[in-house]
Amino acid sequence: LPDPDVAALTRGDVEDLLPRPGDESDKYRRGVLGVAAGSDRYTGAAVLAVGGALRAGAGMVRYAGTHEPVALVRAHWPEAVITPLERPSIDDVGRVQAWVLGPGLGTGDWAHELAARVLASNVPVLIDADGLTLVAKDRGLLRRTAPVLITPHAGELARLLRADRDDIEAARLDHARRAAAELGVTVLLKGSTTVVAEDARPVRVNRTGTPWLATGGTGDVLSGVAGALLAQGLSCYDAASCGAYLHGVAGHLAADGAPLTAAEVATSVPAAIRAVTRTA
Ligand code: APR
Ligand code: MG
Repeated sequence: LPDPDVAALTRGDVEDLLPRPGDESDKYRRGVLGVAAGSDRYTGAAVLAVGGALRAGAGMVRYAGTHEPVALVRAHWPEAVITPLERPSIDDVGRVQAWVLGPGLGTGDWAHELAARVLASNVPVLIDADGLTLVAKDRGLLRRTAPVLITPHAGELARLLRADRDDIEAARLDHARRAAAELGVTVLLKGSTTVVAEDARPVRVNRTGTPWLATGGTGDVLSGVAGALLAQGLSCYDAASCGAYLHGVAGHLAADGAPLTAAEVATSVPAAIRAVTRTA
């Protein structure tokens, strides 16, 4: 029997939920996303997250980071508005409607301080990768009133729940639900299928995608895609489900039966949106 508390995500759901610009749209109203990602050690995550966000239709992406990722983001994305950070602060970044926090950020004191500043804001925050490591060490970071969306793979969720990775793999829906309840956040649990859990909502299961997505950096692209949808006004639950669906379709289109790179997944996001919204 189908579980009433589980819903498979359909193309029609995503088509209905995806934001589209109207005649009255301008770049600010289309959604401004802040990205706090990358470090002098891990530069690529910043480029991939910003790329995913731009390709998913953010009105503007504001990137904040240290010297090395700033140089790389600047070279790759002239569209992004960039704030080089001398200290871990977001005071000079300007207004945003949502944040992506964590890919490649590092896990030291500097990253912790920046995470604290981002989470002290009053807009939704998507936390991924190193951001999740910081939260696993200091759950106090999650004490905020604005919404939080976390996007762990099973290993990251294991650290957050202080659980065993194999137990999580064996019962992914239950653990995603448990994390949502315990942490008071929306959970997008990644893997060969992706599940989205939020308290008092059916768990959404997304099956788009391809095993070719199992390559470094595709998760950073997903952060940007889902973050852009958050900035455009979707709830954490809808941004997570639509983001996972589009990311999977983009992976499918980019792979076409052969290896893909994470950057190519970002490049394929507009084609995925076209495929999902073009009704016959
Ligand atoms: N089938 C379909 N999709 C898959 C599969 C699969 N078999 N395997 C992975 N994916 C998708 C996931 O659903 C997710 O969207 O690929 C993406 C991988 O995201 P992450 O796990 O976040 O991987 P990423 O961060 O890009 O790269 C690996 O994770 O543990 C860290 O430090 C580690 O740098 C490494 C990084
Ligand atoms: Mg990752």
